[in-house]
Amino acid sequence: MPPWRTLTIQRNPSFMHFRFLSPFLLVLSLAACGPSPDTESESADAASASTRWYGAQQIALGESVFRQNCAVCHGEQAQGTVADWRSRLDDGSFPPPPLNGSAHAWHHPRSVLLQVINNGGIALGGQMPGFADILDEEEKLAAIAYFQNFWSDDIYADWQDMGGVN
Ligand code: HEC
Repeated sequence: MPPWRTLTIQRNPSFMHFRFLSPFLLVLSLAACGPSPDTESESADAASASTRWYGAQQIALGESVFRQNCAVCHGEQAQGTVADWRSRLDDGSFPPPPLNGSAHAWHHPRSVLLQVINNGGIALGGQMPGFADILDEEEKLAAIAYFQNFWSDDIYADWQDMGGVN
């Protein structure tokens, strides 16, 4: 069993739900999630800053992929496009959350982020289209790299501790 599973159980129960129920259920549980950790109060983890899984090339590709496919809903800098991403819309679905580390995306390992990008949420009553046949693997990973690059070192380190790169 990879170490992140046991770590995750202790640190973040909702992450487990995501794995065993459907991806969308966790998205639905966004409203129940507490705020992200205070990134100001802890000093940046120097080791994690230099060990991100992506490099400049992926960020550059990701920026153009994200601008063309994601920014309309998630914001140019992945900051979101609504005042409160936890409040349901009139149709009962959730608005696109920020992906810049201020919301929930950092609770999911890369494989799950990829799954969300592939499948979207429409089949589950959400609003996000799936990109399985629209983007290739490299472009999807680059889009993840792009929005992860807005995450603070502390958030990134937490994600990494949970086994995020899996
Ligand atoms: C039409 C609007 C729309 C577009 C375009 C869109 N999304 Fe989304 N996204 C959403 C919504 C809304 C959700 C919440 C789940 C749902 O309703 O489907 C979401 C959820 C997500 C999540 C899960 C976040 C979390 O905190 O769990 C990720 C990751 C994500 N989107 C990435 C992307 C990426 C990358 C792209 C571009 C390739 C993209 N989205 C394009 C609307 C969109």
